[in-house]
Amino acid sequence: MSGKQLKAGVIGLGLLGNQYLQLFSRRPEIQVVGVCDVRQAAAAAAAAQHKSTAYTDAGALFKEQRLDLVVVATPDHLHLAPTLAAIDAGVPVILQEKPLATELSQAATIFDRVEQHGTRLFVNFANRAMPYDLATHYLLQEGLIGAPVYAESRLDDNISVPTRLWGERSREFAAGSSPAHFLLSHVVDLMHWYFAPARVVEVFAVSQQQVLGFTPDLYDAFLIFDSGLKVRVKAEWIKHMEPIVEYYSSFTGRSGSIFYNKRPGFGVQESWRANLSAPPADALLAEHQRRLGEAGIDVRLSRHYRPTTAGYDVSTVQASFEHIGGDQADGMMLVGPMLDAVAEGTLTPASWQRRGPLPTHHDGLRQVQVVQALLDSVRTGRPVAVES
Ligand SMILES: NC(=O)c1ccc[n+]([C@@H]2O[C@H](COP(=O)([O-])OP(=O)(O)OC[C@H]3O[C@@H](n4cnc5c(N)ncnc54)[C@H](O)[C@@H]3O)[C@@H](O)[C@H]2O)c1
Repeated sequence: MSGKQLKAGVIGLGLLGNQYLQLFSRRPEIQVVGVCDVRQAAAAAAAAQHKSTAYTDAGALFKEQRLDLVVVATPDHLHLAPTLAAIDAGVPVILQEKPLATELSQAATIFDRVEQHGTRLFVNFANRAMPYDLATHYLLQEGLIGAPVYAESRLDDNISVPTRLWGERSREFAAGSSPAHFLLSHVVDLMHWYFAPARVVEVFAVSQQQVLGFTPDLYDAFLIFDSGLKVRVKAEWIKHMEPIVEYYSSFTGRSGSIFYNKRPGFGVQESWRANLSAPPADALLAEHQRRLGEAGIDVRLSRHYRPTTAGYDVSTVQASFEHIGGDQADGMMLVGPMLDAVAEGTLTPASWQRRGPLPTHHDGLRQVQVVQALLDSVRTGRPVAVES
């Protein structure tokens, strides 16, 4: 597809669909020829703004337009029908919002159909392109904190998300989803990406449904990896707080730890720090610092002695990488590299080096398999093996 203009369609014209349209309007290689939403007014407004044709039915869009690329940004539980219609219509590239599906059988159906047709399907696990996550991925993959043994990650939403974020659509959206599908989908994918090739093989989870009623309030789970690593992941969407999102993680390896205050809670600053108890030689440390800068995170490098109760142990030099301040993240940051991947015919385009492959239907299915095990664990009260 290199060099030619891509004819694109966008299905689902809510918060995310409109962000795709904004991004595409800045990419001259993309011409949006069709926009689709079951809400006629939303389709008409987007069509007028982006000089495109409005549709209220994805089938009609695919019948009338020969697309090179389609975005599926419908609510979490409504991805199956438009994605299958796109595959069956022969659209070669699909950018699908996360999660791949809210039911494992649907995710498996999409996976199989993608494989049969040779479609290129990317899942927008947007956090993979955000600076703190890139830095964390880099350190873990380079082994700079030693073999990982434990991590925890808490991603919480304000109670206004399930009750008000989508206006009068909020209740329907939240009822069709949950903190597991909407929030932990991101976290589960990140954990697979950070710790690859290790995979989650077992999940033990609890949930609660006391506040909202129409959707679970929260999930709290342990993910057990085949490497022995244990990761606690937790998401609630009932918090009464100032920000829309709070997001905190920490990672402990045999010779270091990472602290990641990405969307900090009250009194905490946006910050990222890696403490290396067995740092490499100075020249290599400087090289890692340079590469983190390339990944979009300027880190301060410091060297210090190990603290003891009697002062400092001057025989042991430790090192830290540190970044204080916002990580400049937004939900469209992975879309540029995905478009570059399409143009270059690869999963590792020039804009996505040393970051592993971009997320596809394989990652989407794996994430849903883990969330399904989590839901089964809640239901049975027992640890559940992840299907594979
Ligand atoms: N990648 C991220 O960081 C991120 C962030 C937020 C949301 N999301 C995901 O993006 C997706 C969309 O979320 P949103 O916040 O934009 O939701 P939204 O409700 O604002 O938008 C969804 C739109 O899809 C339309 N729709 C529903 N069924 C349809 C159908 N069959 N055909 C055509 N249109 C249909 C709805 O009318 C609505 O306008 C969700 O899967 C969500 O989890 C991703």
